[in-house]
Amino acid sequence: MKILAIESSCDETAAAVVEDGRNVLSNIVASQVEEHKLYGGVVPEIASRRHAEAIVGVVDEAIKTAECTLNDIDAIAVTHAPGLIGALLVGVNFAKGLSLATGKPLVPTHHLRSHIASNYISHKELKPPFLCLVVSGGHSHIVEVLDYTDMRVIGRTRDDAAGEAFDKAARAMGIPYPGGVELDKIAENGDDSAFVMPHPHVDGSPYDFSFSGLKTAVINLIHNKQQKGEEIPVADVCASYRKAVVGCLTDNFLKAADDLGYKTLVIAGGVSANSLLRRELERLCKGKYNLYMPEESLCGDNGAMVGAQGYYEYLAGNIAESDLNAIATLPISERGF
Ligand code: KG4
Ligand code: ZN
Repeated sequence: MKILAIESSCDETAAAVVEDGRNVLSNIVASQVEEHKLYGGVVPEIASRRHAEAIVGVVDEAIKTAECTLNDIDAIAVTHAPGLIGALLVGVNFAKGLSLATGKPLVPTHHLRSHIASNYISHKELKPPFLCLVVSGGHSHIVEVLDYTDMRVIGRTRDDAAGEAFDKAARAMGIPYPGGVELDKIAENGDDSAFVMPHPHVDGSPYDFSFSGLKTAVINLIHNKQQKGEEIPVADVCASYRKAVVGCLTDNFLKAADDLGYKTLVIAGGVSANSLLRRELERLCKGKYNLYMPEESLCGDNGAMVGAQGYYEYLAGNIAESDLNAIATLPISERGF
């Protein structure tokens, strides 16, 4: 079964053709990052306008690269939640129009479920149940993936998401948006024991995260140095901060795995590209857990992951009518249509 998948929840206009949830026939991403960089973050209205301009070309290229025509497509999957509402609406309305014009079923797909599904592409043998750490620019969740479309969040951030925490700290050091990527690279050349960072815990909720204190600590450190006219040892700050954020993520994730008895661990979302997170999990999981991580090209937003999850949503009968709407906030456990 071939699914045409469309993603427009944030700042990438993406489309893909995926066969049986696992085989990627095409995966086209048009990124707006360079434009948002000028403003230090995603400007929602600009994002919507760029999606509107790019979507026809991106979908067309995805179909052509897959060497098929619309006739060969069996269903249309689209990210309907969560994300920037104006951005989501572009993809949702485009997919609705295509579904109405062609008579192909319309499959709404949750963005975070799709991030998890990027692992089904990278690891053909991976099947639920497993425990997943979903870390993106907007979310930090520990999710029990009980089945392909049955999920339960057992840990979440109380304030900033991990990606946001990286981006905000990077911004304070003058690293352009999205700073998480660059901060990771700079940290590779720094001394991670140069600065002592807090290790925040959320009382009574051992799987929840809180990054705002950590973010404030690093911003204060930078401001203090600036006020004293001292040079900021950027690589050392990046390395110390990255170690602290990654420590919070791995501690809670592995505690949850042990408490709940999961042996199969998976990571997903933009921050799953973080090189220290990947190295640390590989080290900590060796001989104890089966660890799965998406290939780096599938960590960020893309259409292929929507096609992967869309396949399982389709099999579960999650097909929308023509009144499908976009939703800015939707728990991963809910269908929302
Ligand atoms: O999943 P994603 O592409 O978009 C959302 O759904 O939010 O995640 C984007 C986030 C950004 O905050 C970006 O800085 C972060 O993922 N990110 C990273 C790395 N690559 C992307 N953070 C740390 N290290 C990285 N290598
Ligand atoms: Zn994402």
